Amino acid sequence: MKIAIIGTGNVGGALATAWSKAGHQILLGVRDTANFKGDGLLENANTSVHSIEEAVKMAEVILVATPPQFAESLALAFGDVSGKVIIDSTNAVRTKPENYPTAYHAFKAMTKAEVVKCFNSTGFENMQNPVYHGEKIDMFMAGDDAEAKEIAQQLAFDAGFGTCWDFGKADKVVLLEQFALSWINLAIMQGHGRDIAFRVVRR
Ligand SMILES: NC(=O)c1ccc[n+]([C@@H]2O[C@H](COP(=O)([O-])OP(=O)(O)OC[C@H]3O[C@@H](n4cnc5c(N)ncnc54)[C@H](OP(=O)(O)O)[C@@H]3O)[C@@H](O)[C@H]2O)c1
Repeated sequence: MKIAIIGTGNVGGALATAWSKAGHQILLGVRDTANFKGDGLLENANTSVHSIEEAVKMAEVILVATPPQFAESLALAFGDVSGKVIIDSTNAVRTKPENYPTAYHAFKAMTKAEVVKCFNSTGFENMQNPVYHGEKIDMFMAGDDAEAKEIAQQLAFDAGFGTCWDFGKADKVVLLEQFALSWINLAIMQGHGRDIAFRVVRR
C-alpha cells in the first residue's frame, strides 16, 4: 500500500519503519522537507519525503500522528481525500481540535475519507516492538467505516501486533482515547514504565 505518514515523530516514525519493512511504500508528509523530525526514516526501504499535500495525493492510506489540535488545519490541507483511508492515531487528552472532541471527529466531518481511530492506545515503543516474551500484544480500533477498519487491522498485523480488537463504532472513539489514557496512567502517572502493554486473553 502507499501510506502517507503525517507526523513523523515517535508514533509516525515507529509505524513508518514497521510498514516499510513489511513492503509498503512510505510517503513522509512534512511541513519542511529540508528540516523535520524523523529525517533518518529516509534510510528505510521504499521511503520518500514530500509536502503534506503531495504525500496525501499519492497515498491510499494516510496515517495522522501529529498533536490532535492540528486535525482541522490538516483536513483543509489534505484537499480531496475521497476514496482514501485516514488512520487517526492521535489522543486528545491534553490538547484537542478546536471544534471537535477528537481528531477522528474532525476528519469525519471535514473530509470524505474513510476514517478509523487506531494505533493510539499504546506507547510508540510498543509499536517499534510489539512482542513480549515471544507473545504479540494487541492493537485496538474504533470508528464507523468498515473498509478503513479492514485496512487498519491489516496494518496492525503488518506491524507485528497479534489481534486488532474492534472497540465499536464512532461512539467508542472517545472510549478508545480514554483507554490510551489508561495506558498513560499506568505507564507514566503510576510509574510502571513504558514497557507495559495490553493483551486480551480468553479462557
Ligand atoms: N508518543 C506516544 O507514545 C504516543 C502513543 C500513542 C499515540 N500518540 C499520539 O500520537 C501523536 C503524535 O505523538 P508523537 O509522540 O509521535 O509526537 P512527536 O514525536 O512530537 O511528533 C509529532 C509530529 O507531528 C508533526 N507536526 C506537529 N505539528 C504539525 C502540524 N501542524 N502539521 C503537520 N505536522 C505537524 C511534527 O513535525 P515537525 O517535525 O515538522 O515538527 C512531528 O513530526 C499525538 O497525538 C499523541 O497523542 C503518542
